[in-house]
Amino acid sequence: MGIRITPSILSADFTRLGEEVDRIASADGVHVDVMDNHFVPNLTLGLPVVEALRARTDQLLDIHLMIEDADRWAPAYAEAGAESVTFHVEAARAPVRLARELRSLGARASMALKPATPVEPYADLLGELDMVLIMTVEPGFGGQKFLDLCLPKIRRTRELLAPLGKDVWVQVDGGISESTIERCVEAGADTFVAGSAVFGADDPDAMVRHLRTLAEA
Ligand code: DX5
Ligand code: ZN
Repeated sequence: MGIRITPSILSADFTRLGEEVDRIASADGVHVDVMDNHFVPNLTLGLPVVEALRARTDQLLDIHLMIEDADRWAPAYAEAGAESVTFHVEAARAPVRLARELRSLGARASMALKPATPVEPYADLLGELDMVLIMTVEPGFGGQKFLDLCLPKIRRTRELLAPLGKDVWVQVDGGISESTIERCVEAGADTFVAGSAVFGADDPDAMVRHLRTLAEA
């Protein structure tokens, strides 16, 4: 099982995003949080900024859409060149169709679950996905406290994925740091978003490497 560290630029300096991305050269991708002030009570950035990042970096772009009407907007992020597009299942009308559309556009298709959303109702569509994102805080803001109540869902997701025999990644997002990453690994996560822990560090790339070392131990 591979380990991937995908820092969230939500905690980066938005006035110089290009340079911030350069500061995490060891990362496996850049996690980009798109918020629309409807699905979550916060507003961040959208397609033009993703397009600008695409032109600026070769890092894989891991787009996390916290927006309503995901069916309508998600494909545009794949068309913009993002390698991975995550939609919230709570905001998708036709998640199977959307996952297939994202894949047909060449992106990895990923489905996110808020802390109160169970994975079991979606068991039958996990084979349509390349990644499942288990939120470990309520989405909307960086710097929140990790919710231990999300750990059992990581385990259940792994159990549901096992019989598929496919390498579907399990990503966690929210409150991931050197003090919480190990319990997520133990529960079955393999892909880690960290915003404030990475960009709040004096040396963001050293923190990426440190988190990877902890996860791989
Ligand atoms: C929150 C976002 C996260 C956020 C994580 O809704 O999805 O990606 O940036 O920030 P930290 O790591 O600070 O909890
Ligand atoms: Zn995120």
